[in-house]
Amino acid sequence: MVGTAPAAEEKALEAALRPKALEDFVGQATVRNQLSLVLQSSRMRSTAADHVLLSGPPGLGKTTLAMIIAAEMNAALRITSGPAIQHAGDLAAILSSLTDGEVLFIDEIHRMSRPAEEMLYMAMEDFRVDIIVGKGAGATSIPLELPPFTLVGATTRAGLLPGPLRDRFGFTGHLEFYSTQELHQVLRRSAGMLDMRVSEEGFAEIASRSRGTPRIANRLLRRVRDWALVHGVDQVDRTAASQALDTYEVDARGLDRLDRAVLEALCTKFKGGPVGLSTLAILVGEETETVETVAEPYLVREGLLARTPRGRVATDAAWQHLGLTPPAQDSQASLWDE
Ligand SMILES: Nc1ncnc2c1ncn2[C@@H]1O[C@H](COP(=O)(O)OP(=O)(O)OP(=O)(O)O)[C@@H](O)[C@H]1O
Ligand SMILES: [Mg+2]
Repeated sequence: MVGTAPAAEEKALEAALRPKALEDFVGQATVRNQLSLVLQSSRMRSTAADHVLLSGPPGLGKTTLAMIIAAEMNAALRITSGPAIQHAGDLAAILSSLTDGEVLFIDEIHRMSRPAEEMLYMAMEDFRVDIIVGKGAGATSIPLELPPFTLVGATTRAGLLPGPLRDRFGFTGHLEFYSTQELHQVLRRSAGMLDMRVSEEGFAEIASRSRGTPRIANRLLRRVRDWALVHGVDQVDRTAASQALDTYEVDARGLDRLDRAVLEALCTKFKGGPVGLSTLAILVGEETETVETVAEPYLVREGLLARTPRGRVATDAAWQHLGLTPPAQDSQASLWDE
């Protein structure tokens, strides 16, 4: 329910809820203002905008912003992704067919292959690529001029991007998690588009369970809509919203079944830890990777779980969240290290 990756059918629904203009894009004031200047200035100079890199966790609006950049520049948009560009030739084919001012969006740009990356350096800087024809001693390189274009790269892992690539972007926008107030606005806008009636308190309740992420907020809103429809509730208030989300096992802090299972295993079976990750995964019946990439980041961000060299530890806040009393400090000394 609160995973950050979109399910297949969710993508179409997301497209419908995407803001189309910069002024409809909620929150991220810093990035929005900076980007607005970059775009305005290039419009005034009638040139393609500088290359833009967008980084940040899943579901915060990177793809949405890429589409907005193209729309604001009145430019065509070409969408591809790092994993789809395995050979330099794949990239050459895309680059050589770009039109003047076009926006090229490369999602997950950190997953592009090395040779393609090197071709991209030159394309970004000099609007030129060398196309290699033939093999071995007979190979020749044919220089190809490219029209000015704007590259928009998106990555969830800015740290994995090689320095030379990062440096070639004229502007980098880092997206932060949204405040509850900002999510409230996202929800109000989406509810309007979904023709749902929700009270301000109802929105606040859904927002506070959305983990700072618009994608999750929109998903929870659709589940609340289902619940309200089936229960014949015309206007969703705080009680209705919280009953609906309780039904889907999303608790008041946005934790789902797996998150709570992890904390409960830590607290009730291991007195709060430290416990090794693999032991924890077995206890909750999940793959180690799922626990590490799906549950942990949010638990750590919320200050409910700490990673230590000796294993995972539940914080006092975790005990409180589960309605349990943390043990006295010295009994926490661990018998369970891995
Ligand atoms: N600032 C915003 N205002 C309103 N809606 C937003 C905003 N940011 C994101 N959304 C909504 O959240 C959904 C997910 O956003 P988007 O697909 O742009 O995320 P992403 O950062 O590209 O995620 P991923 O890393 O998984 O590709 C979209 O449907 C969009 O409607
Ligand atoms: Mg995306």
